[in-house]
Amino acid sequence: MQRREYIVKGRESVPGWFDRADAELFNAIDEAQCSAGVVGDILEIGCYQGSSAILLGYLRRSNERLVICDLFQEAATTLDDFHLRHNAYADLSRESFEANFLKFHQTLPEIFAQPSTTLAGSDFGRTFRIIHVDGSHDYEIVRSDLLLAKSLLVPGGFVIFDDIITLHTPGVTAAVWEGVIRDGLIPLFQTHKLYGTWNNPLDVDIPKEFKQFTHDVSGHVMTHLEYPQPHRRLVTRLLQRARSARHGSRNQSRD
Ligand SMILES: C[S@@+](CC[C@H](N)C(=O)[O-])C[C@H]1O[C@@H](n2cnc3c(N)ncnc32)[C@H](O)[C@@H]1O
Repeated sequence: MQRREYIVKGRESVPGWFDRADAELFNAIDEAQCSAGVVGDILEIGCYQGSSAILLGYLRRSNERLVICDLFQEAATTLDDFHLRHNAYADLSRESFEANFLKFHQTLPEIFAQPSTTLAGSDFGRTFRIIHVDGSHDYEIVRSDLLLAKSLLVPGGFVIFDDIITLHTPGVTAAVWEGVIRDGLIPLFQTHKLYGTWNNPLDVDIPKEFKQFTHDVSGHVMTHLEYPQPHRRLVTRLLQRARSARHGSRNQSRD
């Protein structure tokens, strides 16, 4: 399957929370980087069953690394994450991620099955052009992920934080906006993910289907983007909730 087909259709065959709008934006970012000659590795923190990681696999060029970090079946360290592991992520295993990934790509990415807070010791270096932070929702952990991303991102790189405006993820919101105010993160645009950088923001050709609304925030001009598929997103969320419920959840649900 080719990249475009995965964005439009193939993505829906993999359980997860990666919708069409963000898939289109990841693709647009990659095209902008390609035009500007930005090269570098790709990191995802939090892959679940591989929905977004598989697209990142299509974006990776032959001389680049795709690095994936997830706890998989390891115990969570925070209460929120503990609930998620017993509900939304109950069917997650490293094996299920790998099997999904190999349906679309011939080789696996580099996998770090460990808490993202321990990645700082991995000696990666500043070589990454895309970093997708979609792991824990705990404030302290997202703060740590943000500072790690800051140390790894090349000029013209993009960092993307999931669940920036979701009701049950205030820790993500707090950590990311703290990054803007204290750590020089430049917010560029947002869906339910926030897209930013630290250095040399590239112009991204946002696909014409998006409606764009600009905002002045803390000295930055930031755009929020709306993609015209609210019903499909709602159906996806309802299906995810039904799946979580089947695992006997009495606790919170999420996206
Ligand atoms: C929301 S899911 C990722 C969704 C996925 N990116 C997608 O597009 O469908 C969050 C993932 O982060 C992982 N995770 C949670 N806490 C983590 C941590 N501290 N370090 C690494 N991974 C973590 C979970 O195991 C889960 O697979």
